[in-house]
Amino acid sequence: MEERCLLRVVDDYQWFIRHFHSLTGIDLSLYKEEQMKRRLTTLRSKRNIQTFQEFYHAMLKSKPLYEECLDRVTINVTEFYRNRPRWDVLEQFIKEQFRDKQEIKVWSAACSTGEEPFSLATLLSRYFPLEGIQITATDIDLKVLEKAKEGNYIERTLNNLTDQEKSMFFNKNGLIYTVKDKYRPLITFQQHNLLSDPAPDSFDLIVCRNVLIYFKEDAKEIIYQKFGQALKSNGLLFVGSTEQIFHPEKFNLKPVKTFFYQKN
Ligand SMILES: C[S@@+](CC[C@H](N)C(=O)[O-])C[C@H]1O[C@@H](n2cnc3c(N)ncnc32)[C@H](O)[C@@H]1O
Repeated sequence: MEERCLLRVVDDYQWFIRHFHSLTGIDLSLYKEEQMKRRLTTLRSKRNIQTFQEFYHAMLKSKPLYEECLDRVTINVTEFYRNRPRWDVLEQFIKEQFRDKQEIKVWSAACSTGEEPFSLATLLSRYFPLEGIQITATDIDLKVLEKAKEGNYIERTLNNLTDQEKSMFFNKNGLIYTVKDKYRPLITFQQHNLLSDPAPDSFDLIVCRNVLIYFKEDAKEIIYQKFGQALKSNGLLFVGSTEQIFHPEKFNLKPVKTFFYQKN
């Protein structure tokens, strides 16, 4: 009896995964299951919904619930210069490795609401002419991309910046900090699913941080493979602070500093 119950619970979630994939294009079977299931179960319980099947049907009828569910799945937390000491290492690389270049092509993959690509724009603009900087910023979630395009932020997301940087990078209006116009043309925002879309290519630098931790190992490997191919020779991959790659050589990458890999 207990076994049958367990089977039903497992099937219920697998059923949800299949239908959610058709509905949204997001394949939850590639995300770490325990973590994802816990996040969705909390939302489901909050709404007093007993099963994932019922939850799915409720979502079809309620746009706010659908959007809340997408928010749970995508996890958009971010900030400017997240883990600042790592950005200082990136700056060293830029000064040393890219010093003779007039142009740099960068991919901020899973960029959320834009803090990461705008951090890149502000950093790179210190070393490159603005017309030589090309940042492609992608995310699966259209809602965060819309927000990113607006370029409006509240103080909390700027905690890693000095006051001088805040006034260099933003115009302040009341409580809102708006990214200065000169940085905007450097970034192109577009929707992209790391798990299923072909990767854009020919990058000097790929920044992909704090998203791969949510994926299963085999999904990560597919993405690293894509990154290996998307980088130019000697190009750099900058990952999040818990996201070391175990066998970078499999992807034609070598570790150059903690959380930085270079294409051979
Ligand atoms: C925690 S945020 C990380 C933002 C930023 N990279 C940082 O480190 O601050 C994770 C982002 O990954 C995005 N994401 C989740 N699954 C994705 C997928 N399959 N493809 C592309 N982006 C995805 C989410 O929408 C979210 O904006």
